[in-house]
Amino acid sequence: MDGPELHLREKQERNGWIPDLSVIGMGRVGLVTALSFAAKGHRVLGVDLDHRMVAKLRKGQASFFEPGLHELLTKVLDSGNLEVSEVYDERLLPALIHLVCVDTGSVDGSAIDLTNLLSALRDLSPYVRLDAVVALRSTAPPGTTEAARRLLSKNGTGPSVACNPEFLREGSAVEDFFNPDRVILGVTTEEAREALLSLYRDFPGEKIVCHARTAEMVKYAANTLLAVNISFVNEIASICERVGADVRIVSRALKLDHRFGPHAYLEAGLGFGGSCLPKDIAALALVAKLVQQPTRLLDAAREVNDAQRQGVIDRLLERLGDLESRVIGIIGLAFKPNTDDVRAAPGLEIAQRLVRIGAWVKVYDPLVEHDTFRHAPYEVAKDVYEAADGADALVLANSWDGLKSVRLERIRRLMRRPLVIDGRNVFDPRAMREKGFEHIALGVGDEHQPLPYGSLDKTPAEPWELALPRSSRDRLGLIDKDGFAA
Ligand code: UGA
Repeated sequence: MDGPELHLREKQERNGWIPDLSVIGMGRVGLVTALSFAAKGHRVLGVDLDHRMVAKLRKGQASFFEPGLHELLTKVLDSGNLEVSEVYDERLLPALIHLVCVDTGSVDGSAIDLTNLLSALRDLSPYVRLDAVVALRSTAPPGTTEAARRLLSKNGTGPSVACNPEFLREGSAVEDFFNPDRVILGVTTEEAREALLSLYRDFPGEKIVCHARTAEMVKYAANTLLAVNISFVNEIASICERVGADVRIVSRALKLDHRFGPHAYLEAGLGFGGSCLPKDIAALALVAKLVQQPTRLLDAAREVNDAQRQGVIDRLLERLGDLESRVIGIIGLAFKPNTDDVRAAPGLEIAQRLVRIGAWVKVYDPLVEHDTFRHAPYEVAKDVYEAADGADALVLANSWDGLKSVRLERIRRLMRRPLVIDGRNVFDPRAMREKGFEHIALGVGDEHQPLPYGSLDKTPAEPWELALPRSSRDRLGLIDKDGFAA
C-alpha cells in the first residue's frame, strides 16, 4: 500500500470503519449482494450515483420490494457493517474486492447497451488497488470482463478482473443468495481465483472456476434455457388446448421426471417477462448474429413468447368483437408474484396493446405502486373488485397468495360480462363455470369436444400395420391424405 492509501487507512482505522468489500450499484442485485455479505460479517461499502436511493437506504428504506429485504437492511444497518455512498471516492481504496452490480441496459436489434457498466468502471478505476479484484456481477456478453480489464489497466498493469454471475430470482433473491445452486467464478488470474474462492468459502453449491468468457456464457445459457423451457411448455399448452388435454397435468407429470425436476420452468401462462429473461435471450441472439451463428431455437422461443401475449388479445377479440371502448380489467401487473417490478411484464404489455386498439383498461396489482402509472393511459384500481366493476373481461396476468381467496360471486356480479382469461391458471375451470363465469384457462382443452382431425378409430389394428410404407397404408385406407386416420 502506498503513502496516501496508508494515510487513508489510518484515518479510517481511527474512525473505526474500513470496508473490505465494495458493491457498485445498489439496485436489485447490488443491494441484495451488499446486504448479504454484510450480514456474513464483511464490511461493505455500497455505491450508487442515485443520491435519493442512497438517502433512503441510510434511513433503512429500499426503493423496491423484495421479501426479507427490509428486515435484512435493518439488521445490517444496526450491525454497522454497511455504509452507502452516492460518490466514488477514496473510501473505496481499502476494499480488496469490488463487486460490480450495475444494470446492463436494453438490447436493441444491433447493440447491447453497456453504458452504465462502462461508466461505473471508469468512476471506480481511480480507487482500485493493484492487488484488488474487480468482479463483474452484471450480465454482459462474452468479452466484457476482458474489456473491463483493459479499461482498468494503466501502462500494461492493473487489478484482477473476474466474472461472477448472479442467479438471483426477484421475489426470492435473499434466499437464493444464501443458497446458491452453484457459484461461477470466471477468472483470469490466480489472485482473483484465491480471493473469490475465499469470499464464497462458506456458501453451499459447487464452485466452478473457469475462464471469464465461459462464466459469461453460463449466465446467458442459464437464462436462455429457462426462457426456452417456458416457450416449450407454452407451445405444448396450445396443442393441449386444441386436443382437449390439460397442460397443468402434463407439466406436473414432466416435473416428476427426475431429468426435469420439481423446479423446472414448465408452468404455462402468458410467457416470460422481467428485466432478465427477455433481455438476455435477445442479447445472446445478437451475440450469435455477430459471430455468424444462427439461433433458430432462441428465435422460436421469442416468437412463442410474443404469441402468448397476442393470444390474449385474439381471444378477447373473438369473444367481444371490436374492443373499442370495451372495459378490460388486468389483474397483476408485475412480471411475476412477490415483486413490484413491471419491466417487460406480460400484464403491462397486454394493457399497452389493448389501449392501442381503443379498449378502456383498468389495472390492479397488490405490490405495484399507483405512482408507477401516474402518466399511463390506464385507470388504476384500488383492488380486484374495483378493476372488475363494469368490466367486459378480466385478464389474470399474475397470481399472488391472496388472489385465490377473492370473492368470486361479488366479482361476477360486478362485471358487465363474466369473461375471465386466466393467464396463470389460477382458478379451476370447472368450478369457475359452475359459478357462472366464461372462464378461459390457457392450455386446458375440452376433453368432450371432438378432435378437429376426426376419429382415429381406423388406426392400424395390428402393430405390423404401422410399419407399412405410407403408400400401402393409404391403399389399405388406414390414413387419410393429411396423414391422419380417415
Ligand atoms: C431470472 C432467473 O431465474 C435468475 O436465475 C437470474 O439471476 C435473473 O433472471 C437475472 O438474470 O438476474 P427473474 O427475472 O427474477 O430471474 O425471474 P424468474 O423467476 O426466472 O421468472 C421469469 C419469468 O418467467 C416470469 O415472468 C415468470 O412468470 C415466468 N415463468 C417462470 C413462467 O412463465 N413459467 C415458469 O414455469 C417459470
